[in-house]
Amino acid sequence: MSEAKNVAMQSRKIRVGMVGGGQGAFIGNVHRIAMRISDQFDLCAACFSSDPARADASAREQGIAAQRSYHDYAQMAQLEAARDDGIEAVIVVTPNHLHFPIACAFLELGMHVICDKPLSLDSAQAEHLIALSQRYGKQLWVTYNYTAYPMVREARARILRGDLGKIRSIQVEYSQDWLATALERDGQKQASWRTDPKRAGAAGCLGDIGVHAFNLLQYMTGLVPDRIAANLHSFVEGRVLDDHAQIWMRFAQGARANLLCSQIAVGKENYLRIQVFGEGGALDWCQESPNHLMFSQLNGDTQRCSRARHHSDPAVQASCLIPAGHPEGYLEAFALLYRDIAAALRHENVASNAHAALRDMQFIEACLTSQKADNAWVDFPV
Ligand SMILES: NC(=O)c1ccc[n+]([C@@H]2O[C@H](COP(=O)([O-])OP(=O)(O)OC[C@H]3O[C@@H](n4cnc5c(N)ncnc54)[C@H](O)[C@@H]3O)[C@@H](O)[C@H]2O)c1
Repeated sequence: MSEAKNVAMQSRKIRVGMVGGGQGAFIGNVHRIAMRISDQFDLCAACFSSDPARADASAREQGIAAQRSYHDYAQMAQLEAARDDGIEAVIVVTPNHLHFPIACAFLELGMHVICDKPLSLDSAQAEHLIALSQRYGKQLWVTYNYTAYPMVREARARILRGDLGKIRSIQVEYSQDWLATALERDGQKQASWRTDPKRAGAAGCLGDIGVHAFNLLQYMTGLVPDRIAANLHSFVEGRVLDDHAQIWMRFAQGARANLLCSQIAVGKENYLRIQVFGEGGALDWCQESPNHLMFSQLNGDTQRCSRARHHSDPAVQASCLIPAGHPEGYLEAFALLYRDIAAALRHENVASNAHAALRDMQFIEACLTSQKADNAWVDFPV
């Protein structure tokens, strides 16, 4: 790219469209707020809902021109690809079963894809999407937003530079209680598709929040397991998919990990916590208190490290949006991920997380294989 073209690209906003995320939806609005905080994107087209009236009402609310409010994502991909000022990337925030066909439609017409998790329904679909992104030279991102918290990145920097010594044990938990009853039978929108295998995929809680925990473990430690044993269970009567899962992992370098994810854990809201224990030190981070990281040293004190303080990794320090003591949370971390995505789309040296997203699909498959084999240890990937 010429220098003049590059400067122009850096200084203007990236044109994006959204599929899903209309009125009454959950995560689409979080993406929009995060994009606004990041200040790098211009949302100019959408297919907000499968219901045309709701799609148009949502578009009006978001200030999107009527002719760019679509009722069909395939048509949106075609008409946007044909415009001189068409979108450069699409954000996919629909239920899981639509991620794959939507991502294919936009990649094949030359647009980047920013998809919420899980990337697809299985690893074969994820591999196909990665192949498409390579074939068309377009970026594929999955919004693993927890990896963008500054103190998660601080923990990763400390682990990778050896502050903990050799990693021995990892405990990661993501617990919620909102599916402790059969909410899906009351017609609650988010619960109804998440408990339906046709729309959620073969895993319930595991595919919904277990993948976040697994992704965080990989991101923070740089480790990928080679053996997995899983115990998936559904506590709520009549529910087909798991609402609680416990997974054990072994790593070639000797470490062991436990992953617990649950949506029936009464009293837990969004309790995502990871503890990493090495030979000489340990780290403990919890997303309900995301501005602090506990760091322990063998035979030393435990320090409570604050976001944006002098002991932060310089790159992490630079990423913080506001000074220490003013809390940054979920929305800001989501915005930091969007800042990374913008940098990648502007051809800066930021690698997409598509391969980690593929491993998350392989993780689900390994857990299901283990479950079917009476919770036996299985190779990862299977
Ligand atoms: N990163 C995170 O932390 C996080 C959190 C929540 C949800 N998610 C993921 O985001 C996705 C959406 O979850 P949600 O809770 O917002 O779901 P939701 O049910 O609240 O919203 C889904 C939206 O998709 C729309 N939709 C359905 N079919 C469509 C179609 N054919 N064309 C256009 N729009 C269509 C619905 O009308 C709705 O607006 C899921 O894949 C979920 O796993 C990620």
